[in-house]
Amino acid sequence: MKALKLTPLIFLFISIFISSCQENGVEVIADQEFNKDWLFLKDTVPNGEAINLDDSTWRKLDVPHDWAIEGPFNNKNNARNGGLPIDGIAWYRKHFTLEAKNKNKQVAIEFDGVMDNSKIYVNGNFVGERHYGYSGFEFDITPYIKFGEDNIIAVKLAPEVLSERWYPGAGIYRNVRLKLNEKVHIPQWGTFISTPEVTSEKATVTIKTTLKNATDKPQEIFLETTIIDASNKTMGISTETIEVANDSEKQLTQHMTVVNPSLWDIGKPNLYKAISRVKIKDQIVDEFETEFGIRTIEFKKEGFFLNGKAVEFNGVCMHHDLGPLGAAVNYRATERQMQIMQEMGANALRTSHNPPSPEMLQVCDRLGIVVIDEAFDEWKEPKVPNGYSKYFDQWAEKDLRDMIKRDRNHPSVIMWSIGNEILEQGKKDGWKIAKMLNDICHDEDDSRPTTAGFNYYPASFVNQLAAQIDVVGVNYKPAYYGEIREQNPDMIFYGSETSSQTSTRGFYEVPQDFHVNKETNQVSSYDVTVGPPWAYAPDIEFDAQEKNPHSLGEFIWTGFDYLGEPTPYGGRDNSTNGYWNDDWPSHASYFAPVDLVGFPKDRFYLYQSQWTSTPMVHVLPHWNWEGKEGQTIPVYAYTNADEVELFVNGISFGKKVKGKDLTDVFTEYNGFKKGIYKSKYRLSWQVPYQPGSLKVVAYTNGKQVASKELKTAGKPTKISLVADRNTIKADGKDLSFITVRVEDEEGNLCPKSDNLIKFKVEGSGNLAAVGNGNSASLESFQENYIKSFFGKSLAIIKGTENKGEITITATGENLATATLTIKTE
Ligand code: GAL
Repeated sequence: MKALKLTPLIFLFISIFISSCQENGVEVIADQEFNKDWLFLKDTVPNGEAINLDDSTWRKLDVPHDWAIEGPFNNKNNARNGGLPIDGIAWYRKHFTLEAKNKNKQVAIEFDGVMDNSKIYVNGNFVGERHYGYSGFEFDITPYIKFGEDNIIAVKLAPEVLSERWYPGAGIYRNVRLKLNEKVHIPQWGTFISTPEVTSEKATVTIKTTLKNATDKPQEIFLETTIIDASNKTMGISTETIEVANDSEKQLTQHMTVVNPSLWDIGKPNLYKAISRVKIKDQIVDEFETEFGIRTIEFKKEGFFLNGKAVEFNGVCMHHDLGPLGAAVNYRATERQMQIMQEMGANALRTSHNPPSPEMLQVCDRLGIVVIDEAFDEWKEPKVPNGYSKYFDQWAEKDLRDMIKRDRNHPSVIMWSIGNEILEQGKKDGWKIAKMLNDICHDEDDSRPTTAGFNYYPASFVNQLAAQIDVVGVNYKPAYYGEIREQNPDMIFYGSETSSQTSTRGFYEVPQDFHVNKETNQVSSYDVTVGPPWAYAPDIEFDAQEKNPHSLGEFIWTGFDYLGEPTPYGGRDNSTNGYWNDDWPSHASYFAPVDLVGFPKDRFYLYQSQWTSTPMVHVLPHWNWEGKEGQTIPVYAYTNADEVELFVNGISFGKKVKGKDLTDVFTEYNGFKKGIYKSKYRLSWQVPYQPGSLKVVAYTNGKQVASKELKTAGKPTKISLVADRNTIKADGKDLSFITVRVEDEEGNLCPKSDNLIKFKVEGSGNLAAVGNGNSASLESFQENYIKSFFGKSLAIIKGTENKGEITITATGENLATATLTIKTE
């Protein structure tokens, strides 16, 4: 996070932009995005790093790039990894020139993540390598640079199939920066800000800054740190001089006070910036900006306290892919995901099961969502044949330390997780690795506790893994929360992974069926439990959390559907080679309350009814049951109000009271009795079907507070396009997400339509991807057409760097064409 606040001049170099400034004669140069104009070839290229290699025919592209999302889906690719081509050897190359006047500078290349097994070369020289695709890293490439001449950086990747239990993506899928530093500067991740004492009157801000002297002489270095608030008002300045020996680094600690601090909180993301200016003899040689928040966190056996107030985790676990955009990181797509999660009522994220993109943490900082930052899904015991276990001994310490160094300034991050469902739980000496990793976390950061997600109960307790960490996460064990408290009176714990219910948006089975439907490869959205054997309905967790208020809350599996692990279709056994294609074409998850493209399923509203307080009511299923006239259709309502009345064609089917009138949900496992579970979280009616209107009215204290109406849709006649944002930035990155609906004459969604929709995009933008949330569809995300799935699809539009307008035209057979114009500015 480096940027200049001094009047920047923009210099155009031969192939990169350098923003720089002149103060007191020394030019300070900021970090440069190094994302454009890479060359790509997915092939084994002998000496792909060679300077004189002819790369003129290679494909030109910008990163972040995920080659696997380009497809095609193929059942020769493992469905566990998304059925996409995530493996193989590939090369990226980039030519660039640095002006001769930079010859005294230190040049570094920083990658936020390369998926994976990457090797980096500059001008034919091997510079370094990184196995773990989720780790950010930087190499000093000064010795290999030829100033004033053409340079070539080459990156070789060798990702393997079944290196993860989900879709990892493949490629330089996160951002790249080129850094031109003075020899005296703040190195990568060189600041560490914490707020040890906070009251409403004042906060102590502790800033540790590392200063690097890469010259051959000792240097007297002057550091000036300024704290500014969101309106750029200076809150304090601290100055310090320190001597740093040649070729070495030193850390300097400053304590500053911010009076009347605006605290960072859930949904109230007040942020500050610390601007670190490094000077030598009055000349600025580096300037570094760190965004941070002022807040306190406390974990007690009674709960989690943020700024002294108890907060229950209404959390979501998320994998890192962005649906149709694949793993290639995009700020807006990430922000949209978390905004949708917030709308559902989520206040917490667990970055399962690996370090997230830096963008994800920025988003959580800026939206006010707390984060568990997780390092690993495997230690030394493998879950998949090419998983992290192969690299644990060599890389675990570095990957963990780097994650913490990278992420420690984010106010959103509240815990470090050392692992998920680590198989060492079952081993007598598994605690030793837990202790080693736990100690590393505390060594890097004493301001946050550690955690892990344990699914073996009681083995993880008996084998003392749980005893090693500060806050114990238990996966899928609501039936044991009482027992855990009883046997461990002082333990601080929470549901680190819960529910794993599965369903398909818009798909309903009547009569209700609780079996895995192998004809459709879809799961009924009545959500009365079809899942893997460890899954259970959200209701059961709500109940367990209520009965065990000492649990800090829950993290549902997952917030968004993700690519790969298409449970309940496909294989289930992690210990085999995990060939998951038995139920092909299923290739994406069905777990989440939100589908792969971001459309809420019914379950979204079940969570909303429990996690939010603005009055809401939701009704399901759709009301198009042609041929079933007179037959019974179950109707469900989810609300946070007291009671709901159902009307069919204006006739009341009676009021149901929340907490009193119960709905049957099925349990299969998990310490609960197999059979029927009576849920107080849903209201339901059995209704003889007649077409027309289905309406729910919700009341609190006898007063109407919310209502929703569904109508039987007529014939599909038109397309409607609804953009999440009608104006986007003209920066070549910003996105508009367009919901594409197939509607009848009156504008009702046609809930069964599967019309093929074609898109034409003109003006200052292009079609970045399409999708429809069908986890069993083999349609490409990259064509300019897609079928509607239960009436809906999504078109993702990316603006160019030109200001102007983008016109999207959507056509379909026998449907009136729709056009929409959005602006880029
Ligand atoms: C958990 C696991 C997750 C995911 C989930 C599916 O056991 O930690 O990564 O596989 O099951 O239900």
